[in-house]
Amino acid sequence: MFLLLIAIFGIVLFLVEKFIRPLKKSHPAVLYLRSFSEIKETKQDWYAHKSENIFAQELCDEYLVVSVPLDCGVMSYAKEIDFLKQQEDQHAKLHTLIMKDHPAAQKYKFWKKVLKLVLLKTPQWLSENILGNVETSFGNGMWITQMTLGKFWSNLLIFHWFEESEHGAVTSSFFKHRYNALIRLILAPIGVLCLALLWVLPIFMKLYYTPRIWLYPKTYLDLVIYLGAITLGWLLNVAECLVFWILPFEHSTNYYKYVRSSFEKQIKERKIEFKVIKEKEYIY
Ligand SMILES: [Fe+2]
Ligand SMILES: [Fe+2]
Repeated sequence: MFLLLIAIFGIVLFLVEKFIRPLKKSHPAVLYLRSFSEIKETKQDWYAHKSENIFAQELCDEYLVVSVPLDCGVMSYAKEIDFLKQQEDQHAKLHTLIMKDHPAAQKYKFWKKVLKLVLLKTPQWLSENILGNVETSFGNGMWITQMTLGKFWSNLLIFHWFEESEHGAVTSSFFKHRYNALIRLILAPIGVLCLALLWVLPIFMKLYYTPRIWLYPKTYLDLVIYLGAITLGWLLNVAECLVFWILPFEHSTNYYKYVRSSFEKQIKERKIEFKVIKEKEYIY
């Protein structure tokens, strides 16, 4: 019965998008290329934790390692958007360089490989549907977790999420135009589950690798706060997946700009310095 309802919803959606509300590109977005100097000298500042919550720290460690396959996936399948490709290329290189000798690199090696397998070794249509879905709300989900956990992201992640919110709508729209609503609907649960896994994995990793923390009352308090934050983040991911990825609505320019400016403010507060080399406008 449930599957029948989903099938009917999907077919109606497909017809709406085909005949009543066809997708069209109409919003401008500017992407920037930025460069850094002396990455090696400022290494400590890039990954230093900004939270007392042990699970938030673990989430930072996870993303410092496992975001690389996501960057590589977008790079390989969205080559046409040259500035997007170069932004993701820089993310992958920065993460790899900065995390080279960090213990988290070894700890999350397996999961990085799993993600690489899912995003780079599966058929293109599957990868693109996961990447498009994930990029729709990636920066925004990271932003909303701060409502509960405070400004906890490490410097490299602040910069990364800033650029993700800058190019999120462009990337999502690019992949969205390649597939009809029926296909996006059928494959959407995979992207949503990938994001859910990335939110909960740090809990298990922290408890498995440091079992002594089971004895501390702070662990349980941190866990409750962390669960609240990731539930909020994941619900936002699901809502945006439905509105901006599955349904034939266009991405909200103001919303993405708001999240971007919030990360930009944190970049200034943290004194993260870079040079803007070039900028280019895209229509999404
Ligand atoms: Fe990225
Ligand atoms: Fe991205």
